[in-house]
Amino acid sequence: MTEALSRLLTELENFGAENDASISDRPRRMLNITRDTGEFLSLLVRATGARRVLEIGTSNGYSTLWLAEAVSAIGGQVTTVELSDFKINLAATTFSRSDLSPVITQLHADAGEVLATGGDGAFDFVFLDSERPQYAGWWPELRRVLRKGGLLVVDNATSHPLELAPLVALVQADDEFVSCLVPVGNGEFLATRSA
Ligand SMILES: C[S@@+](CC[C@H](N)C(=O)[O-])C[C@H]1O[C@@H](n2cnc3c(N)ncnc32)[C@H](O)[C@@H]1O
Repeated sequence: MTEALSRLLTELENFGAENDASISDRPRRMLNITRDTGEFLSLLVRATGARRVLEIGTSNGYSTLWLAEAVSAIGGQVTTVELSDFKINLAATTFSRSDLSPVITQLHADAGEVLATGGDGAFDFVFLDSERPQYAGWWPELRRVLRKGGLLVVDNATSHPLELAPLVALVQADDEFVSCLVPVGNGEFLATRSA
């Protein structure tokens, strides 16, 4: 990682912490992943050689930078989806301040619609960090767009286990998937589709 990117990530961490401590209105909070989750995502992308990465829930682009830095090392691309006008603009500014824009495609859209129009097996890696009550409804499309052997990573598995429970139950009942819980950051639920 370049020093400039490391500095930008630290600046975003400080901004997110200060912003979220002073604002209770959820749409205006950054709700970023933790730094160790970013490191974990970076490692997973590299280890799995995931070149086609989908992120659901961009916010101001903090987690996207971790994914983008990792895919840039292996010749991949990140598509990141965000519904909020406010946050899509914050993220665009974040990306313009990095040298990672060429590997990032920003979609200003509802993730459910993006998933519905995604091709079968279109992604090697999906990072899900959005509105948790919607996850179970998205499962049929999530599993369809993930290629066989691909990896789904879902944030907040230990911070909000009850909200993730409906999705976790669907994944665990699906014979094509193997899953586990990794206690890093706010808890990452990992599921891979049998090749
Ligand atoms: C927890 S934040 C994402 C944080 C980001 N992954 C990070 O760590 O920097 C969740 C984001 O999902 C967005 N979101 C909520 N519902 C959405 C939807 N249906 N489609 C796309 N984005 C959505 C919210 O606006 C919010 O910015």
